Amino acid sequence: MTDTALAELLSSRIRDVPDYPKPGVLFKDIAPLLADAEAFAALTTALAGRAGELGATKVVGLEARGFVLAAPAAFAAGLGFVPIRKKGKLPGEVFEQSYDLEYGSATLEVQCDAFEPGEKVLVVDDVLATGGTIAASLDLVRRTGAQLVGVVVLMELGLLGGRDRLSTHLDGAPLETL
Ligand code: PRP
Repeated sequence: MTDTALAELLSSRIRDVPDYPKPGVLFKDIAPLLADAEAFAALTTALAGRAGELGATKVVGLEARGFVLAAPAAFAAGLGFVPIRKKGKLPGEVFEQSYDLEYGSATLEVQCDAFEPGEKVLVVDDVLATGGTIAASLDLVRRTGAQLVGVVVLMELGLLGGRDRLSTHLDGAPLETL
């Protein structure tokens, strides 16, 4: 499938929900995409293909919707999966990284021993909006000692400046939107 055909298929299965979760917000609902076997398979195949092309040894998913994309992609690529979770969900030693939200802040964590020495990591999430979630996640990956080989998101809300925010966190790794 060409990149254009994939983008058209995926776009056609994402539903705009006005005024959710609060008035004035246009929510991008991926439930129809996940429920469609052809679209979900195409998404998984594309993510797994990029993991292979980039030489990843692990696929990282960001809680919660990133898990749904990254875990099957890791399986399809023959790779392991690592979760980055919201604070307080992972046992043992963790690295934690906070980031600013519109009101307040949030904290993400990764287990300190999530990666073996020399591992190469592909980070996957559903949406790049302000970039706070992925920026914090990339900082966590770097602190584990693993090498970032790329970031792939399903969609990018281009007006929110996420790509610019990430430019100082990518260390030259590609940021791709399906
Ligand atoms: C959403 C989305 C991304 C993040 C993008 O996650 O799944 O992870 O926001 O926003 P940002 O670029 O402004 O950081 P959310 O925290 O709503 O969690 P969920 O996946 O558990 O719904």
